[in-house]
Amino acid sequence: MSPSFHLLIVAAGSGTRLGGESPKQYLEIARKPVLRRTVEVFLKLIPPENIHIVINDAHRALYEQAVAGLPLPPPVPGGPERNKSVFNGIKSFPDLKDEDILLVHDAARPFVRPRDILNLVDALKSDCAAATLAVPVADTLRREDGKTVDRSGLWSVQTPQGFHFNIISQAHEKTNEFFTDDAGMVAALGIPVRIVEGSRDNIKITTPGDLTLAESMARQMERTQFRSGLGFDVHSFDTSKENVILCGVKIPCTAALSGHSDADAGLHGTIGAGDIGSFFPPSDPQWKGADSRIFIEKALLLVREKGGRIVNADITFICEIPKIGPHRVAMQQNLGALLGLPPDRIGIKATTSEGMGFTGRKEGLAAQAIVSVEFPT
Ligand code: CTP
Ligand code: MG
Repeated sequence: MSPSFHLLIVAAGSGTRLGGESPKQYLEIARKPVLRRTVEVFLKLIPPENIHIVINDAHRALYEQAVAGLPLPPPVPGGPERNKSVFNGIKSFPDLKDEDILLVHDAARPFVRPRDILNLVDALKSDCAAATLAVPVADTLRREDGKTVDRSGLWSVQTPQGFHFNIISQAHEKTNEFFTDDAGMVAALGIPVRIVEGSRDNIKITTPGDLTLAESMARQMERTQFRSGLGFDVHSFDTSKENVILCGVKIPCTAALSGHSDADAGLHGTIGAGDIGSFFPPSDPQWKGADSRIFIEKALLLVREKGGRIVNADITFICEIPKIGPHRVAMQQNLGALLGLPPDRIGIKATTSEGMGFTGRKEGLAAQAIVSVEFPT
């Protein structure tokens, strides 16, 4: 089903139980504000104009900083209690129709999973007008008087909670009593609220301990792994021709490099992702004289398919001719553009082999490259 719905994020609280320097929704976890994390989850599912955020106007500067660069509509002013903030938010959607779906979510729950949000929306599109994410109570519950409460059938209620628009707006118009959540308010009017099982990760950051837990959860989610690929390539000189191509740059030279493709040893070395020949067999005539940028593009595709990101590349040429130094900047720029990296992430160096061996005798040229790639774990 299509995930079309509107969303209210309530972010007008002051986070007194947490007692941070700023309200909890504006504190950073793993270098990103809580509110921004929350918004980014929903931006994977709906367009930004469907998202209204309720804030305390006194925190406007913190809000602007937290969502900088996200194309959101202007925020809605909140109220002194959560109920009031939600009601103001509902009124900021004058065009929604009775059956349209409105989700209400706490800014302080940044770990809600897209899959659970979609399950909630699916429930609202089928046969229920009110639903909430919740998880079964796992701990034994005991009263202060020592009596144990049977936990079967008990759920910890989370957000988002979702409603057909007429249900949530009428509930707020009719109710004066205080409720900590909207599903509770709707249920008190006798309207059934479907429970959709969510995830225990969807914590509401409330206390300083929650913030510590949230920090480690966020770091865990964003952990990456570095891998390096080492490449080596050799091409012989053909003295009956002139000029070579290295890192896509044409360099004047008293001999040309021979090879099946354009013999760009710089680019061949940089691939570092399995054997170039297994993707582009030299026996296959279609790669004859090929521009070596296609090899790099193939390697990039393989990396990106796995969610990887190239971090840097470093190449050493071993040759007597041509002189690499005068062409270093052009090579850095060209290879940087191919790899989507700034030139300062491309190292280009050269050495002679002091007259020794095949490179010393100018029979050919060798290139060695290392590429680092960052992958999500
Ligand atoms: N909220 C709101 N308007 C209020 C109070 C709360 O929009 N007047 C929002 C909070 O910003 C939070 C969500 O409702 O995202 C859940 O509330 P809660 O966890 O209680 O947050 P705070 O009220 O900020 O925290 P505390 O109760 O510790 O002060
Ligand atoms: Mg509160």
